[in-house]
Formats: sequence, C-alpha cells, structure tokens
Amino acid sequence: MVNSPSFERYIDSLRDKVVIVTGAASGFGKRLSEQLADYQAKVMMVDIHPNVKLISDEINTSVGTTATACVTCDVCDASSIQGFFDKTIELFGHIDVVVNNAGIANECSLFSQSDDVELDRILNINLRAPMIATRIAGVVVNTASVGGLLPISLMESYGTTKAGLIFFTTSCRGLAPTVRVNAVAPYFADTSLVAHNRLVNAYPLIRQIGLMSTDKVVKTMIKAMCDETLAGDTLLISMGNRALKLGFYDKLTADVTSYIASGTVNKYAGSIYTAFASSLDYIIKLIRSPN
Ligand SMILES: NC(=O)c1ccc[n+]([C@@H]2O[C@H](COP(=O)([O-])OP(=O)(O)OC[C@H]3O[C@@H](n4cnc5c(N)ncnc54)[C@H](O)[C@@H]3O)[C@@H](O)[C@H]2O)c1
Repeated sequence: MVNSPSFERYIDSLRDKVVIVTGAASGFGKRLSEQLADYQAKVMMVDIHPNVKLISDEINTSVGTTATACVTCDVCDASSIQGFFDKTIELFGHIDVVVNNAGIANECSLFSQSDDVELDRILNINLRAPMIATRIAGVVVNTASVGGLLPISLMESYGTTKAGLIFFTTSCRGLAPTVRVNAVAPYFADTSLVAHNRLVNAYPLIRQIGLMSTDKVVKTMIKAMCDETLAGDTLLISMGNRALKLGFYDKLTADVTSYIASGTVNKYAGSIYTAFASSLDYIIKLIRSPN
C-alpha cells in the first residue's frame, strides 16, 4: 500500500530516533520494531519472553545494521524499567520515544477469581508500568484498547486498565511539548493475545466480525509518536479507513455514558453474553460510522 505524504514525513523523521518498545517479542510490538528498524530508527526491544533476543537478531540481520538491541525483563518491576532506560542510554546515547505496549488480557472474569494474583498482575503490567515509564520519558505512545472505551462483560480488569491508561494519557496533555503522551486504542487484531486468550475466543462474534491487521495498528502507533500536533490524544483504530482522534470529553464518551445509563450493559449476575453482544454491537456501529 502506498503511504500518504504525511506518513512519508513521519518515516523521514524517524531516521536515527531512539525508540524503546515494550512487549516487543510478539504482536504489535514485534511488528513495530521491524518497521522502525526499516525506517532507520534505533530500537530497544523489551520483553519478558527471552525470544526477544532472537527477534532482535533477525531484524538486525535483515536490515544489515545493529538497529535493535534488547532487554529481557518484567515491566512490573520498577527497577527493571529504570534498567532498560539506562541500557538504552548506554547503547544509543539518548531516548526519543517510549512505546508502552506490553500488555496482557485477563483469562477469566474478576468475579471468578479466588485471589488477587491476576488482578495485581494485569494492573501492574497494563497500567502501573506505563505510568512509571512515562515519568522518565519524553514522547510516549501507550497501547490502550477499544476495551478501555466500552465496557465488555467478563473483561472488567482488562477494560479498567485500558480506560485508566486513556485517562492517564489525557491527563498528561498539559505536559506538552516537553512531554508528549498519546495512546492508540485498537479493536481486536490478529496477534497471539487474541489467538490464545480463552475468554476472547469464547465469543464467536469476534471471529465473525474479523480481526484487524497488525500493520494498521503499527501505522497508527507511528502517527501517534511523530505527529507533533497530537498530545494527550487517543487514536481509536477501527475497521474503517482511518483512526479517529478522540477527545476524552467528546461525543463518544457522551454516547458511552448514555449507553451505560440505559442499562444495556447488564450487571454481572445478568445475561453476560447478551451484554457482551450488545457492547460489541455498539462497537461495530461505532467503528462503521463515518466521523
Ligand atoms: N491484539 C488485540 O486485539 C489488541 C487490541 C487492543 C489492544 N491490545 C494491546 O496491545 C498490546 C500488545 O498486545 P498484542 O496484541 O501484540 O499481544 P501479544 O501477546 O502478541 O504481545 C504482548 C507482548 O507483551 C509481552 N509481555 C507481557 N507481559 C510482560 C511483562 N510483564 N513484561 C514485559 N513484557 C511483557 C509478551 O511477552 C508479549 O511478547 C497490549 O497492551 C494489548 O493489551 C491488543
């Protein structure tokens, strides 16, 4: 697909930029790292999975330079976060952008869990780690989700972390231009997070609608980091032609609020599947409507 002139300008601006990408061993983070290396940026790939080393080596072989380096660590640990920032400075001299992309989805409803282990983990990875990393960074892209804009039954913890991330991103608007924080909010896409999550796969509707391509999400991440007019913004990535820029208090939020107030989203004790189907129905309407 041919890039627009504005996207070509973003690509030019990425040359020699130093970008940290968390969750870089798979899905969006892996594809983003590949693209950034192609565009001659330097990438610090961070992941808990040791496979990140192999992927970093493969990218370097394919682009013919040491465009990427990697750190294997758990973003839940604040000292690990400081560690990969330090390592990036040591190897590349400075840091231009941090993409807080590492994330997990809950495997079962909060109300089916007998302890707080999964709750603590999802809060730490999806919300606390990006907040800590933003405190150290300059330009930040947070990977939120459409699940942070619309409540989806059974995904209470996941949606709450992503809604928190969107709220945090918006709250950082006033820090621009010194610190420029944006978020992307993708619909369900073709990554291992979706392929291997039992909960997501329990809903045939998701398969019926189809999954979004990883490349589309990655393009929007690049826009969020390079478009200097964006600050405190969340880009909703839909199945339509282009990402929508959302203000937190805009029409979407008003729509969501009235949707919840109308009682269409059932309480946990109610019909979960119906509630989920209604939520999804609403998302579909949203993503198909021209902006
Ligand atoms: N795939 C989707 O449909 C979708 C939609 C909206 C938002 N998202 C978000 O996109 C982001 C990337 O997810 P993905 O779909 O590419 O999934 P993925 O599972 O393919 O990739 C996530 C990566 O994060 C890493 N990771 C998990 N916990 C970590 C930790 N504690 N420390 C360091 N790394 C860790 C994993 O090892 C994995 O490589 C996540 O934040 C996810 O919530 C995904």
